[in-house]
Amino acid sequence: MSSNSEREQWGSRIGLILAVAGNAVGLGNFLRFPVQAAQNGGGAFMIPYFIFFILLGIPLMWIEWGIGRHGGKHRHGSAPGMFDVIWKNSMAKYFGAIGLLISMIIMIYYTYITSWTLGFSFFSISKTYFGLTDFEQMKSFLYSYQGREVSQYFNGITFAYIMLLITFIMTFWVLFKGISRGIEKLAKIAMPMLFIFAVIIAIRVLTLGTPDPSIPENSISQGLGFIWNPDLSQLSNPQIWLAAAGQIFFTLSVGMGTIQAYASYLKPKDDIALSGLTTAATNEFAEVVLGGSIAIPIAVAFFGVSMTTQMALGGSFDLGFASLPLVFQQLPFGQFFGFMWFLLLFFAGITSSVAMGQPVISFLEDEFGMDRKKAVGIISAVVFISVHFVVFFLKYGFLDELDFWAGTFGLVVFALIETILFIWVFGADKAWAEINEGADIKIPRIFFFIMKYITPSILITITAWWLINSAIPQLLLTNAAEENVPYIWGARIFMIVIAAGLFLMVKTAWKKNEA
Ligand code: ALA
Repeated sequence: MSSNSEREQWGSRIGLILAVAGNAVGLGNFLRFPVQAAQNGGGAFMIPYFIFFILLGIPLMWIEWGIGRHGGKHRHGSAPGMFDVIWKNSMAKYFGAIGLLISMIIMIYYTYITSWTLGFSFFSISKTYFGLTDFEQMKSFLYSYQGREVSQYFNGITFAYIMLLITFIMTFWVLFKGISRGIEKLAKIAMPMLFIFAVIIAIRVLTLGTPDPSIPENSISQGLGFIWNPDLSQLSNPQIWLAAAGQIFFTLSVGMGTIQAYASYLKPKDDIALSGLTTAATNEFAEVVLGGSIAIPIAVAFFGVSMTTQMALGGSFDLGFASLPLVFQQLPFGQFFGFMWFLLLFFAGITSSVAMGQPVISFLEDEFGMDRKKAVGIISAVVFISVHFVVFFLKYGFLDELDFWAGTFGLVVFALIETILFIWVFGADKAWAEINEGADIKIPRIFFFIMKYITPSILITITAWWLINSAIPQLLLTNAAEENVPYIWGARIFMIVIAAGLFLMVKTAWKKNEA
């Protein structure tokens, strides 16, 4: 807006696709997906999952690419400016601020989780956890690394903190280098490595057969069957549908404001139809084919279906960080498989972390005319200070509280807002024309109807359902442990402060630019 210099652009189409795929492919694909699938009945989960991929995931991808490229034409790389362009109303920019809030809050805790994977890749190659042969021991190793438990394994969280610093510096270094020289370059290295590692591990897993012939029911084929045998009897359980929708949002990074930011650096007539579809498909390949072939089959083969479900119910990270290291120890060259597993998670995590940092950096650049150096400096300082709350209050549910409001509920709410604004306020015909401008494929017309009626209806239903069944009980702390309550309130106040800061900045920017 106020800066007259050229906006940055992606260097190449493949670079763009890898970057957006890197944005989407994250810890969600390899850690969250198997846990969600196992917690929600395996095969029963996959049916709503695919339904929502078609009815929510793909349409929202196109909507976000469309909003993003359209915003970019008007020199806006973040939701406040993008919404202001599509809705001529003074409130529009404030709705957009919700997008900034979501990506920023998720980034704050996501960076910390990503750093654990770096730590565990060191522990794998150095065989630090080798010798811990029981699930409880391995869990204790993980929990004391995270500072949630005191044990003989770690003396405080110094090592975890160092890993966080490394991850943090790398993330902001990439953001500092910019769109094509930072994010695109990272994606061109990290994404191929990630896929190579994932394929190697998946092949190793799929050739494990029945590790203990005396327990023939614990086998890889049993593990694959657990995910792939559709279980229609459970489809009446709304919980499974909500979990599947939540996974689609999180894994595709829709409802975060990050896809829009990346798409804003396209040229006005660059294709978005095929690129959007390709990135969604790449994400699903990484999640379902690769992610689905690693954690669950391996856990079922070594521990059986019921234990795997128990492990998944224990927490989002137990399967990836505690169960798999037990298995790696039993494999020849296990240290290398462990190393590859955690390094692939690190690549998946960091390419998503940088995406979460970009919207608010674009915001400062585009709306305040700041140079990238200054914008990155400010955001890195805010994230650095904020992440300490997550690190030190992890065991009191601070991270979980942020994850619920920003990473679960917030995504659906923001997706609903952007869908209504783009399809209903900007107008379905104009939105459809925008998405199809420069398209390298012909999007089937049925998606016009899906985007106009089905996607918003599902989003309204899910928002309402979640509000009543999850958000209100969560707000009232119905299931919170007594000692966590002050920290949970702390997390809420923290989010309110960040939100207030962002709203104020939006207001200031518009005042300044209108003057
Ligand atoms: N889409 C990213 C993930 O799956 C956030 O982790």
